[in-house]
Amino acid sequence: MITTTGLKKVYRSRGREVVALDGVDLHVREGEVYGVVGRSGAGKSTLIRCVNLLERPTSGTVTVAGQDLTALAGGSRRAGAELRAARSRIGMVFQHFNLLSSRTVQDNVELPLEILGLSGAARSRKALELLDLVGLADRARAYPAQLSGGQKQRVGIARALAGDPKVLLSDEATSALDPETTRSVLQLLRDLNRQLGLTVLLITHEMEVVKQICDSAALMKGGRIVESGTVPELLAAPGGELARELFPVGGVPSGPGGTVIDVTFHDDSTGQPVISQLARTYNIDVSILGAAVETVGGRRVGRMRVELPGTFEENVVPVGFLREQGLQVEVAPAGAAQAATPEENSK
Ligand SMILES: Nc1ncnc2c1ncn2[C@@H]1O[C@H](COP(=O)(O)OP(=O)(O)OP(=O)(O)O)[C@@H](O)[C@H]1O
Ligand SMILES: [Mg+2]
Repeated sequence: MITTTGLKKVYRSRGREVVALDGVDLHVREGEVYGVVGRSGAGKSTLIRCVNLLERPTSGTVTVAGQDLTALAGGSRRAGAELRAARSRIGMVFQHFNLLSSRTVQDNVELPLEILGLSGAARSRKALELLDLVGLADRARAYPAQLSGGQKQRVGIARALAGDPKVLLSDEATSALDPETTRSVLQLLRDLNRQLGLTVLLITHEMEVVKQICDSAALMKGGRIVESGTVPELLAAPGGELARELFPVGGVPSGPGGTVIDVTFHDDSTGQPVISQLARTYNIDVSILGAAVETVGGRRVGRMRVELPGTFEENVVPVGFLREQGLQVEVAPAGAAQAATPEENSK
């Protein structure tokens, strides 16, 4: 639904160059919620602004719903009109809501409809319908100053949906909200995604957001995507940075000579009985170094880091036993046990 290839953005100011995007290949499937995470300055906002061509990429292409927007952005006036039309089908939600304080809630939602040239009655009908969708039908006549942060963001979302977009872009839409309100706004985005088949690309620096609603995620660093995949794929790769942050399981081996493995289990299997079965069946001492259970994308997922005595070769049979129980087993990458401690993560 959204594809970027070799996307580059270089800012030039006062003779200095900042490479904000350094060859980004992004692929967001139709109907999914895709989260991009990364530290401040990683290039997340630049990426999202390039996706709707608010920012002109230095090179590379952006395709949304089969339409090459970068081609439309080039040159002719006709192309300009086509780009505007394409952009009106991409909704955008902002961190600070960007509502007009002098207009009522309903008039804020009507604004893009005015620009699209809808008549007064049609605008009003559509705006009320959208406000109903975001749970604010009774606040149509209120002014933004009379709303809570969460309600303002709901208005922002209703406005973003005015052009019946296929794609919704969101840049830190919940960063200004408290945790409870964040959850409800994320749930709204999830519901809209399901109800309307809306594809959502969202930028966040909070792993919680990815956990709650994303189907896929990517990690950006220094203008590049360094990891990406569906959330189940990411969870299945314990060595990955995203997996580690989605799932911080620490644990330091008791000493040399053991084999440290990460065991991942999903809601249909639980780890604990399997581990004790393993210990009984093979008569080995299994040490649990760390464990966590989380709800990711609506599913319970658990991960446990355990240590088995002996080398990996000596543990081929017990590891096979775990895999046969439907558990995912990976040998913890060298140094991973240490790397998963909070001190290392904060570097
Ligand atoms: N208009 C601009 N002119 C010059 N440099 C810019 C401009 N916009 C962004 N940059 C630079 O590009 C890099 C990426 O910025 P960007 O805003 O995309 O980061 P971000 O990941 O969204 O960060 P944050 O989490 O703080 O919002 C930064 O080094 C930033 O200083
Ligand atoms: Mg940003």
